Amino acid sequence: MARGFFISFEGGEGVGKTTQIKRLAEYLREAGHEVIETREPGGSPGAEAVRHVLLSGAAEALGAKLEAILFAAARSDHVETVIRPAVEAGKIVLTDRFMDSSRVYQGVTGGLSEDFMDALERVAVNGMVPDLTFILDIEPEEGLKRAASRRSEGEAADRFEKEQVEIHQRRRQAFLEIADNEPERCIVIDASADADKIANDIRKCVSEALSVAAEDTPKKSRAK
Ligand SMILES: Nc1ncnc2c1ncn2[C@@H]1O[C@H](COP(=O)(O)OP(=O)(O)OP(=O)(O)O)[C@@H](O)[C@H]1O
Ligand SMILES: [Mg+2]
Repeated sequence: MARGFFISFEGGEGVGKTTQIKRLAEYLREAGHEVIETREPGGSPGAEAVRHVLLSGAAEALGAKLEAILFAAARSDHVETVIRPAVEAGKIVLTDRFMDSSRVYQGVTGGLSEDFMDALERVAVNGMVPDLTFILDIEPEEGLKRAASRRSEGEAADRFEKEQVEIHQRRRQAFLEIADNEPERCIVIDASADADKIANDIRKCVSEALSVAAEDTPKKSRAK
């Protein structure tokens, strides 16, 4: 493969993003692809340093704007040091959350303006828009229950899991709106199904997208 492929997994808390990334990575590796599994916030040394500040809630008191800029700083580092080099080297990159999470969490429920969020997105993403985005969709109560049951005893809920269900409902709608507005990039997956069925559905979509991408690759670069 000349150029690789970039896939993001999005959705609320406990929808099964991490579970499905693992499953897809295994499947793609068995099919002979080189796969990078990564996550946000984080995914690169610089961004992981920022992740702790964000998820501990330390940045929350400093305001939504500062928090959003930190997310963008982390994303920029992640894109330029991990995602872009891997995709340019022909690898398949699977990321657990990306730009849609910022649009939803900091934009829609963080109350920041679309202009401000668009500007941050342009800088952070810098053209590295996912080829495909899976939006895992489930009733927020169900997702939160899953996230809570996954946490080991004594481990506290993070800054985002602690918020009220109503906010999680708004986020769910916001993710679905993104999918509506960008149907070429986004695929909504019913995340209430069992993990095997979801993994199967995702495989089918990815296999199809990869064969379309291979068709689109000019013969010259494919022959390399
Ligand atoms: N389809 C499924 N049906 C039932 N339980 C599931 C399913 N997928 C994942 N789980 C379980 O739900 C919990 C949350 O899954 P997972 O960690 O993959 O979600 P996530 O979207 O990555 O969550 P977070 O946003 O908190 O990182 C885990 O305990 C996982 O085993
Ligand atoms: Mg996860």
